[in-house]
Amino acid sequence: MKIVSHHIGNCNQKRQICERILNEMLAKMGGCKGDCYLVYYSYINKGDIDMNTVIEAIEARRCVRSYRATQVKTEDLNLIMEAGTFAPTGSGKQSPVIIGVQDKQLRDELSRLNAHIMGKDTDPFYGAPTVILVLADGTRSTYLQDGSLVMGNMMLAASTLGLGSCWVHRAKEVFETDQGRELLKAWGLEGYVGIGNCIVGYPEGDKPKAAPRKDGYTRIIK
Ligand SMILES: Cc1cc2nc3c(=O)[nH]c(=O)nc-3n(C[C@H](O)[C@H](O)[C@H](O)COP(=O)(O)O)c2cc1C
Repeated sequence: MKIVSHHIGNCNQKRQICERILNEMLAKMGGCKGDCYLVYYSYINKGDIDMNTVIEAIEARRCVRSYRATQVKTEDLNLIMEAGTFAPTGSGKQSPVIIGVQDKQLRDELSRLNAHIMGKDTDPFYGAPTVILVLADGTRSTYLQDGSLVMGNMMLAASTLGLGSCWVHRAKEVFETDQGRELLKAWGLEGYVGIGNCIVGYPEGDKPKAAPRKDGYTRIIK
């Protein structure tokens, strides 16, 4: 395989993703016939990103509520969580903490606690094998906004990696239960508040369509 790169800054991770995607495509096609080129671009340090790509990615993201059992790759999970860490935070204080849960026992316990709050015994995580918890330091005045932006970044990052995701609520209530408090204590995060559960996995079935945007959603006052 020939690699043609346009390399500005540290884009090794992007290159790895491109290589993996190309190799998966080649495997499906039964191998490389003739020359195969891998082209990748990175503008990470340049501040010169393609706006259309960003807007397209934002508009393409949807909440996914049906998942395959296949676990999310560690490298993808790291990329998603890292995208979360680049969300803006009040005074730049980085109040949230992001915890990727792939341990099935803990994932199932979080699901059970969440369902219990709704008075149900179904899986509120829709079978997703990974749950990324976002907690935030409740002593910071912007903890809720900080954590919500982390959630948004991560759902967007997951979508651009071809993964499904969804915000599942009731993290606050879960971490106010006795079991939730015990977990916070064990993690050294007493005083942190549950913001959201970002479930992640490989989507099962067709991608949901976006609801039409309501009238009057935006306005410009000049
Ligand atoms: C604060 C918040 C809480 C949410 N809680 C849940 C939830 O508990 N379960 C769920 O299935 N979806 C939940 N969602 C996902 C929304 O239902 C979803 O974003 C909405 O239906 C629009 O769909 P879209 O994200 O595909 O555009 C939540 C979203 C937000 C922003």
